[in-house]
Amino acid sequence: MRRSVLSLITAGVVITGLTIAANPSQAATTGPCDIYATGGTPCVAAHSTTRALYGSFSGSLYQVRRASDNATTNVGVLSAGGVANSATQDTFCAGTSCVITVIYDQSGKGNHLTQAPPGGFSGPASGGYDNLADANAAPISVGGHRAYGVLVAPGTGYRNNSTNGIAKGDAAEGMYAIFDGTRYNGGCCFDYGNAETNSRDNGNGTMEALYFGNSKGWGYGAGSGPWIMADLENGLFSGVNAGYNAGDPTISNRFITAVLKGEPNHWSIRGGNAQSGSLSTYYNGVRPNVSGYNPMKKEGAIILGIGGDNSVSAQGTFYEGVMTSGYPTDATENSVQANITAAAYATTTTATPLVSGRAVSLRATTGCCVTRYLTHSGSTVNTTAITASSSATDKANASWYVRPGLANSSCFSFESRNTSGQYLRHYSYQLQLAANDGTSLFASDATFCSSAGKSGQGYSLASSNYSTRFIRHYNNAVYIASNGGTNTWDATAQWAEDSSWGIDGAWTP
Ligand code: AHR
Repeated sequence: MRRSVLSLITAGVVITGLTIAANPSQAATTGPCDIYATGGTPCVAAHSTTRALYGSFSGSLYQVRRASDNATTNVGVLSAGGVANSATQDTFCAGTSCVITVIYDQSGKGNHLTQAPPGGFSGPASGGYDNLADANAAPISVGGHRAYGVLVAPGTGYRNNSTNGIAKGDAAEGMYAIFDGTRYNGGCCFDYGNAETNSRDNGNGTMEALYFGNSKGWGYGAGSGPWIMADLENGLFSGVNAGYNAGDPTISNRFITAVLKGEPNHWSIRGGNAQSGSLSTYYNGVRPNVSGYNPMKKEGAIILGIGGDNSVSAQGTFYEGVMTSGYPTDATENSVQANITAAAYATTTTATPLVSGRAVSLRATTGCCVTRYLTHSGSTVNTTAITASSSATDKANASWYVRPGLANSSCFSFESRNTSGQYLRHYSYQLQLAANDGTSLFASDATFCSSAGKSGQGYSLASSNYSTRFIRHYNNAVYIASNGGTNTWDATAQWAEDSSWGIDGAWTP
């Protein structure tokens, strides 16, 4: 069969002023930390529960613990450089609740975030520790795949007081984080960044962390908030003044990119919509015009969701964030913002039961055939009537694991529930079951992209390499069929119905 090469989504862009232009030389698997490294300011901490922050990262993003038996598991990525494999969490946490116990550092520096200990203030959990975040409380999607953020309710906090490679003293650093711009409060302090290593207030300049919220207790900006500010200890700063700075705007997009960087007597706040557009600079200048912040006395701990002294009154939601060694250029940060918008954060997954890792059955919706399911018998694929009293073999033959598309992780492949390693593929336009032979042709032939059902019912599944052809049953055999064409199975009559499938829970879960 003819093979078509799928073009990769271009993640890279170059921003000049407010104009974004595609940069085709940047690979789709480039992550924010690859961009920082190229800019000469490498990540020394990289935290995310939603996606890999390096193009090559294929390790664990975070760990969850379930209430039913206190067991833990790690959540990884769907593919190197890709999105979280949230099905791991869904399966592990089914029927119970889970908390996020570790947010792993992807930088290789070992700067993982765990339950914050007591400090100047105590948290509500045992021993004065802070609470851990409910792992299921902040579902979103990234690139069309479900993922979970870290929902910080008041009392929740993560910390690492013994870090490696994080800026100390007046050394230069940068950082960004993606937050939910609609979930905040005025409590102290929803922070991500550099803080004291003893969890106490060690005086002005001993912190340099991003803050997001509408506190007016220290600094504040234009409008009624929320604002991105810098928590420099004993002060949330929106610019050079300790109080009001007109240049720091209210920002409340659903997903915001918050950026902070500092070097000797120079720092900057930047921000933007994490779903589209470019970053704006809200402050760029000298250290605050009050004493104690020049030079800085950064200590190099990392906090998430709390103040430097473990103040635990704030709330917010975190999706990803990094800290760098060195002061990143605006151009580097602009490229990171482009990478973030290309990652496609969204509030909901596409309304599809096609979730990687789930087992499903594909039911015909045409009036003739509503009891028939897409099944295999050996390598032959057809539709077969399946009922509750069907044999276990028939039920398993009609059950499929949803996998990330072998040729395109935004689409899907279907692995046989009872014949591991064998997938639905088309061959001479007819579907069959075959072992993955590792070729790119196999990957393309075995990848299908979902959309709303052509008849208005269920879902339609387009061939990834023949995108006008959809999985269709015809005389109980199954093909990739176009709506009209030279093959008998391309017949226009009932094409829409025959190519619309109900996606049910699997006959054999
Ligand atoms: O700087 C604001 C807050 O003040 C810090 O986060 C905290 O350590 C102190 O209470």
